Amino acid sequence: MLKTAICDLFGIKYPIIQGGMAHVATAELVAAVSDAGGLGVIGAGASEPGWVREQIHKTRKLTNKPFGVNILLISPFAKEVIEVVLEEKVAVVTTGAGNPGPHVPRFKEAGIKVMPVVASVALARRLERAGVDAFVAEGMESGGEIGQITTMALVPQIAGNVNVPVIAAGGIADGRGLVAALALGAQGIQMGTRFIATVECAVHENYKDMIVKGGDRATITSGHSLGHPVRALKNPMTRRFIELEKVGLTEEQLIEFGTGKLRKAAVEGDRVEGSFMAGQCCGLVKDIVPVAELVRDIVSEAESLLCRLPQYVSVDTEPSEQ
Ligand SMILES: Cc1cc2nc3c(=O)[nH]c(=O)nc-3n(C[C@H](O)[C@H](O)[C@H](O)COP(=O)(O)O)c2cc1C
Repeated sequence: MLKTAICDLFGIKYPIIQGGMAHVATAELVAAVSDAGGLGVIGAGASEPGWVREQIHKTRKLTNKPFGVNILLISPFAKEVIEVVLEEKVAVVTTGAGNPGPHVPRFKEAGIKVMPVVASVALARRLERAGVDAFVAEGMESGGEIGQITTMALVPQIAGNVNVPVIAAGGIADGRGLVAALALGAQGIQMGTRFIATVECAVHENYKDMIVKGGDRATITSGHSLGHPVRALKNPMTRRFIELEKVGLTEEQLIEFGTGKLRKAAVEGDRVEGSFMAGQCCGLVKDIVPVAELVRDIVSEAESLLCRLPQYVSVDTEPSEQ
């Protein structure tokens, strides 16, 4: 059975983590992933602390398996959400958009495992010294806010520089991606985009439909002028945002224009004005399936691929003639 060090660390069956996604990763999806043997993660995003507590309670009603909360460190409510997570003693905290270093000791004291999402070796090294338990190394193929390095280049560099388990994220949607991640030195995968196109994900059907119909070139990045590039599906909203960046709108004006657009996509399914954050793996997503089926298929594809791999290569064991 496909099992790695991350399974023991988090008390999960399979090394598959569902990325915390603002407005997308709510209790239903999180519980379904944890029930299926992976680790579901609530996306706190910029939500108020009361909403995060509600989602934790709801998830606990739906599953007795471990799950996590992703804290977006740039959220105006980040401090309060940290207090909620500490009080509720969730199993795992993942963090996005920032450096969680100062908060690590309090999480550890509360018995909470900490797994920051990182996009560079330097930050990973610094956070390892702060005592984190694992990392998500997220490449720029991923949906949402992105770094500058691809998954292929980033994962082995982070895995080669830290002594805690590394999870690969960005561009992974099937068993082939899981095997590739293991080959790069990761102990598992985190997927965002693939988990949106599932029955249990509570987003608007238009979101799922756009991911299923999107091909390899369906996404585009915007927000480079703000220093926080974001990958989303190409649509009138993303094109307009890029135009506004080009004509030189101020940071405040751009932020005002972009605010609320992910919610418009996830809740209202607004194909024109919504920001449908998704990754480059859209072309690998062909259907909307129940989470349990997805997790099972990924694990069985990875297991059979791992068994077949030796047949793909011929290793010459004869001594070379010289
Ligand atoms: C709609 C959406 C929202 C996201 N929101 C967050 C977030 O709030 N915090 C975070 O750390 N990562 C966030 N991410 C990144 C995911 O957790 C995950 O790492 C990423 O989607 C993996 O790449 P993939 O989309 O290629 O699977 C988001 C991704 C998407 C698609």
